[in-house]
Amino acid sequence: MKLIIPKKIMDLKPYVPGKPIEQVQRERGLQKVIKLASNENPLGPSPKAIEAIFKNAEESNYYPEDDSYYLREALSEFTKFPKEWIIVGAGGAEIIKMVAIAFMENGDKSIIPEKSFLMYTLAVQEVVGSEGIIKVPLTKDYRIDIEGIIKSLNEKVKIIWIANPNNPTGTVIKKSELEKLLSEMKEDQLLVYDEAYNEYVDDPDFPFGFDYLRKGEKRIIVLRTFSKIYGLAGLRVGYAVCHPEIVNVLFKVKTPFNVPRISQEAALSALNDEEHVKKSIETNKKGRVFLSKAFEEMKIKCLPSQANFITIIPEFDPILLYEKLLEKGIIVRPTKSFEMPEGLRITIGKEEDNIYLVNVLKEILNELRKV
Ligand SMILES: Cc1ncc(COP(=O)(O)O)c(C=O)c1O
Repeated sequence: MKLIIPKKIMDLKPYVPGKPIEQVQRERGLQKVIKLASNENPLGPSPKAIEAIFKNAEESNYYPEDDSYYLREALSEFTKFPKEWIIVGAGGAEIIKMVAIAFMENGDKSIIPEKSFLMYTLAVQEVVGSEGIIKVPLTKDYRIDIEGIIKSLNEKVKIIWIANPNNPTGTVIKKSELEKLLSEMKEDQLLVYDEAYNEYVDDPDFPFGFDYLRKGEKRIIVLRTFSKIYGLAGLRVGYAVCHPEIVNVLFKVKTPFNVPRISQEAALSALNDEEHVKKSIETNKKGRVFLSKAFEEMKIKCLPSQANFITIIPEFDPILLYEKLLEKGIIVRPTKSFEMPEGLRITIGKEEDNIYLVNVLKEILNELRKV
């Protein structure tokens, strides 16, 4: 056999996920392992979603509704946008791929901030190769550099990709920054505005994409997910809200039956479980304050986060710290694969997990700072 692989595929570096709990238990012979690596909801799925999964399991011999009909209807009610403005994907990750496939062709460019969610880079590279990517470094204080993005705009740029809050830094761009960017973009340029973590934000100056769509801005594709606040990462459901002309194009490239029935039904139930969402936000807020304060007291540099994770920049090799935490059964995420070799991203967990993390970190720091 002689495989002929396109260069753009050869150049791809596959997505590096957080280590699963089972793998660490297996490899390290540990019983107690906590995962603070993939920004999952530590409270689990909404009980209403679990009920929906069981209720719909028996229908799994049938294909699901291809266009996630009832979920889109519920999302329409939730977002106050017509159903025609909404498309559902197998996680936000699938929609990211759909957007790259639908709107990029050879010669086109995408602007992607450095130290951001890797799926944007992978999706664009898969479609047009790495020559289609313009990377813009973050500011010195790890914020997305809107001025830098504006300077990189040219007529070849088709899409600008922004996660707000950004992953892995947790930092946010402000209303005035988003508005400046929109005012500099041409009519034929699109902004993928990824709000995967929006529910965790408490900054009053945070720009919600929906507000701009409502004001008539047609170039924004707002991405949302059920993987974070709704605790359904394992069921793979995300959605985009954007102008129906864009939705129609995305439907052209959608995989048939992309979202399983149990996922659609669980998402619909989770959407209606306001209590679980509220509890998840409160747990995260408390954990964020607790961990930020603990990092400060331990004199570990950490970035100001508006999300459900905090990224630290330790004074010594982060991989060494990562390994030491693994030895104690705590999985965190080195940010090396996010073009940020200096950091470790830590998902905010349940109260007891956060306390355990801080105690273990104190021990490790004592040991490392002595040498
Ligand atoms: C910024 C951002 N966008 C989108 C996603 C995609 O999530 P999912 O594909 O699980 O919906 C993630 C997941 O971590 C993320 O961090």
